[in-house]
Amino acid sequence: MIHSICCIGAGYVGGPTMAVIADRCPQIQVTVVDLNARRISAWNDDDLSRLPIYEPGLAEVVGRCRGRNLHFSTEVEGAIASADLVFLSVNTPTKTKGAGAGQASDLRWIETSARQVAANASGHTIVVEKSTLPVRTAETVKTILAAGPAGKSFAVLSNPEFLAEGTAITDLENPDRVLIGGEDASAIEALASIYGHWVPAERILRTNIWSSELSKLTANAFLAQRISSINSIAALCEATGADVIEVGRAIGTDSRLGSKFLKAGPGFGGSCFQKDILNLVYLCGHYGLHEVARYWQQVVELNAWQKHRIASKVVASLFGTVTGKRLAILGFAFKADTNDTREAPAITICRDLLEEGAQLAIYDPKVDGEQIRQALGVPPSAGAPAPSDDGLWQLAADPLTAASGADAIVILTEWKTFSSLDWSALSAVMRQPAWVFDARRIADAGAARAAGLKVWQVGLG
Ligand code: NAD
Ligand code: UGA
Repeated sequence: MIHSICCIGAGYVGGPTMAVIADRCPQIQVTVVDLNARRISAWNDDDLSRLPIYEPGLAEVVGRCRGRNLHFSTEVEGAIASADLVFLSVNTPTKTKGAGAGQASDLRWIETSARQVAANASGHTIVVEKSTLPVRTAETVKTILAAGPAGKSFAVLSNPEFLAEGTAITDLENPDRVLIGGEDASAIEALASIYGHWVPAERILRTNIWSSELSKLTANAFLAQRISSINSIAALCEATGADVIEVGRAIGTDSRLGSKFLKAGPGFGGSCFQKDILNLVYLCGHYGLHEVARYWQQVVELNAWQKHRIASKVVASLFGTVTGKRLAILGFAFKADTNDTREAPAITICRDLLEEGAQLAIYDPKVDGEQIRQALGVPPSAGAPAPSDDGLWQLAADPLTAASGADAIVILTEWKTFSSLDWSALSAVMRQPAWVFDARRIADAGAARAAGLKVWQVGLG
């Protein structure tokens, strides 16, 4: 019976997942710890609109549980010591240097947190891999735990998270499945009984630990593969007069294919798809499966090509040059309903346009200027932009301000508000001839054309 949970890592996964567990299991004390004191203090902010993560429904869940049985703290050691079960929910980004750089996962945070558990746990502790990890990482975690001080015992489980950002709370409250991998039957049942408070029994899958670790990488690889597949067909649609939405509908009605994840766009972003496929590629190489590695590598390459293709399309349409031209960028987050910009396609597309000398006016309903600065690696220009050959960017307060004096509007995130823009008002403040590049197929193209704008939409020939 689990009375006390500690989650190491108060990020996009740890925060929402623990909030939902606390909400559904009021008898369990849940403490989410993080080394990042700023992040923890934001989780503890009295003003729930200032939580460090924007997710629809998250503030309500946190508001119900925080201080009751949900706690956010920087006291990592103490929280581990009093926990029956510890989730490892730390970041596992792609390695940037050393062996496997650019492909393998950087496991230093997993190793550190496993060492913290080894040092501070008391009695018997169930340690759950919640982070996405290379298959066979549990072996490393077990070795580290076994090397800790005597008098403690551990069971290690894999329980990958399948939530998507923007729908994290509904995904957690109503998951397609919960996956638990492990060998220790009583630990598996203890974890299953937590989810059993709200997840139907038939949706709680039990596998061996390696299948569980590998299933998470595989799920992300298959999802990302669908996006690269539809984006490849989008390019062919544009060349042939077909419409990728019609093609997507036609193939998606085949129950063997299904209708989801068939939206063409500017390429997939987010912290996980690329890193998880690269990790899969690395693992395949490690096991000598070079053809398999090349097969998955192509999903990432097609995605990179799609991002550059869209930037090139903008430049080519604007008479082959955007130097000194103002372009309104609508949307910077990697998808709608999140403030996350990790690997957002907007980063590559904006960098390409800056490289071409464009003056970008960027608007996103949830992403602030500091985040954009960090993502682009360049500060915004101060004051009114002067004529210049160098690319520069500024934050815009709304779409109309962004469009003012612009030669084009480029829609990169599918925020709902971009589907009902006032195209007459926007066209009136733009420099003519003016374009709309809709990389998400969200704009009302008819209304934009009626307002005198030239319109390009992804996947429409
Ligand atoms: P994140 O970067 O938002 O959060 C990780 C947190 O862990 C950070 O705040 C960091 O400070 C903290 N941390 C690292 N080492 C620590 C330590 N030793 N002690 C205390 N805190 C520590 O990452 P995330 O997006 O929440 O992802 C976490 C894991 O979940 C990754 O493996 C990711 O692949 C996986 N995942 C992410 C998503 C998603 O939607 N973001 C979905 C499913 C799975
Ligand atoms: C994805 C998976 O969907 C989750 O199951 C998984 O848990 C998570 O990765 C993870 O491991 O981090 P997420 O990246 O948050 O979730 O969001 P998605 O909805 O999958 O979107 C990823 C990217 O693909 C976004 O840039 C989105 O715009 C793009 N996308 C998605 C498309 O271009 N077309 C689609 O049809 C769907």
